[in-house]
Amino acid sequence: METSPSSQVVTDSASTLPASSSAGSSHLSSLNLALGNPIAHHVQNPEPMTEDPLWYQHAVFYEVLLRSFGDANGDGMGDLAGLTAHLDYLQWLGVDCLWLPPFYPSPMQDGGYDISNFMDINPIYGSLDDFRTLVEGVHNRGMRILVDIPLNHTSDQHPWFQSSRSNPSGPYGDYYVWRDDDSGYPDARVIFVDSETSNWTFDPVRKQYFWHRFFSSQPDLNYENPDVQREILTIIRFWAGFGVDGFRLDAVPYLFEEEGTNGENLPKTHEFIARIRQMIDAEFPGTILLAEANQWPEDVVEYFGTEERPECHMCFHFPVMPRIFYSLKEGNAQAIRSILMTTPDIPTTAQWSTFLRNHDELTLEMVTDQERAQMYSWYATDQRMRANVGIRRRLAPLLDNSLTQIQLANILLFSLPGSPYVYYGDEIGMGDNIWLPDRDGVRTPMQWIPEANAGFSQAAPADLNLPVISSLSYNPSAVNVQSQLEQPHSLLHWMRNTLAVRKAHPVFGDGALVLLPTDNPAVLAFVRHNAEETILCAMNIADSAQATTVDVDGCAGSSVTDLFSGSVFPSIAEDGSLRLTFAARGYYWFSLSH
Ligand code: BGC
Repeated sequence: METSPSSQVVTDSASTLPASSSAGSSHLSSLNLALGNPIAHHVQNPEPMTEDPLWYQHAVFYEVLLRSFGDANGDGMGDLAGLTAHLDYLQWLGVDCLWLPPFYPSPMQDGGYDISNFMDINPIYGSLDDFRTLVEGVHNRGMRILVDIPLNHTSDQHPWFQSSRSNPSGPYGDYYVWRDDDSGYPDARVIFVDSETSNWTFDPVRKQYFWHRFFSSQPDLNYENPDVQREILTIIRFWAGFGVDGFRLDAVPYLFEEEGTNGENLPKTHEFIARIRQMIDAEFPGTILLAEANQWPEDVVEYFGTEERPECHMCFHFPVMPRIFYSLKEGNAQAIRSILMTTPDIPTTAQWSTFLRNHDELTLEMVTDQERAQMYSWYATDQRMRANVGIRRRLAPLLDNSLTQIQLANILLFSLPGSPYVYYGDEIGMGDNIWLPDRDGVRTPMQWIPEANAGFSQAAPADLNLPVISSLSYNPSAVNVQSQLEQPHSLLHWMRNTLAVRKAHPVFGDGALVLLPTDNPAVLAFVRHNAEETILCAMNIADSAQATTVDVDGCAGSSVTDLFSGSVFPSIAEDGSLRLTFAARGYYWFSLSH
């Protein structure tokens, strides 16, 4: 077998773990051991962060829930020091940037998205000093960190709300959206349909109704009030001052309300995001903004702004995600093709954020009614698997724990336009627990080792914040980091190797996409190209072997080299056609050259 220079295969054996070194503090090493961290003694070499201002176009992101990753103080709740102790693992995996959901003081009615103080750390996670240590540890390993700012609402326990309800004419009286009745903004949909019937709730203290797009314990801020806008800028400055590399702007479409509209994506909302961007560019250049806007592509692209008035550097691409799952069950690539065809171009400095799963339900807001019904019947046969307008399950159980399906879903994630976001635990195929309330079923402790509490915590099992998965196929003996490190062909090694191959080809991050015609609807084929290279991605979405002829227009006679193995395939014919055969759920990444 020949290996081409472009082939960047990482040998997939446990022996590729980095050798021990004296780098790293002894405090963290002992914590590692206490946490059962299987790569504790393999300390990574320090690495500088890339200075590329467009780093986010080529980065691999990893969403990590503090409360479920590592519990350093043994109280049953994951914490900042616990995450810091596991940074070597994330560096080893090939993560470039962490995304941390909110860690601020909160009554935790919504996983911490209900904030009672935006400028501190929830003591269950540690202190501001622990946060500084985390940021330093992340940066020392050449990685970056995004923090999450829910700017649409606060907790009802926030002193602003407490003051607003009790002192309407005081300084915070106008921080929230108050009305005498609940008839305003009737065209705004209810988002948390499982628990809320209205976006208005009566407050017995102020004797008025307040507006909320999410739980009634999360009143919406009143963005018409310039003081509210100033407060949010202050909060962003506060965290930017810690050297974080970016902000996920949570629930961003809903900041303003307006009669006669659905209250989403309003021009005033865009104006305010542009104001945040202006401040960031002036005061913290290089820091990025990521929009969480669960909207159709033509509405989301507005959150990138324009060259004259930029808004966010990145936006989640919500509609492509359910279509990956839809296509996999249908065995047909059409749903993915059509959403790619209707996704507008984005500015050259912008980037999509793509994902398969996250800490929320697999949202089905961006599909048709018919597609939604079909997805429920395929993926959520049990009512307990559903939450709001979506499915509260993890990647592996959704895909029947089938390695080939999980790999294909990830190949799609890693080769479609955008920077991929991996949800913690999905790199080892963790399971879920549909008996836990709300979205907690997909937020259970990370499974490090096949022992008590999966190595997540030294607390008594009954004291864990959430129970470790105990089902037959997904309990820590069946699924854990340590045993997958030992197995060269585990999902974990496959993820690391595939990410390494992707990273060796920046075209996956910045290249244009050209969809290619095939004569088999089960096969998705497209080219990613930039000035330096052209890569042909071809995937058999079906669960059976398939053959197809791909029409690679403009590449007649090009040589075809498999990126994973370096194997040379027959060249593209003079008429631009390439005949391919696939195993069930098979895929190729080919480098094309003349
Ligand atoms: C977060 C959710 C949260 C909601 C309200 C989001 O979109 O991802 O977890 O419940 O905002 O804050």
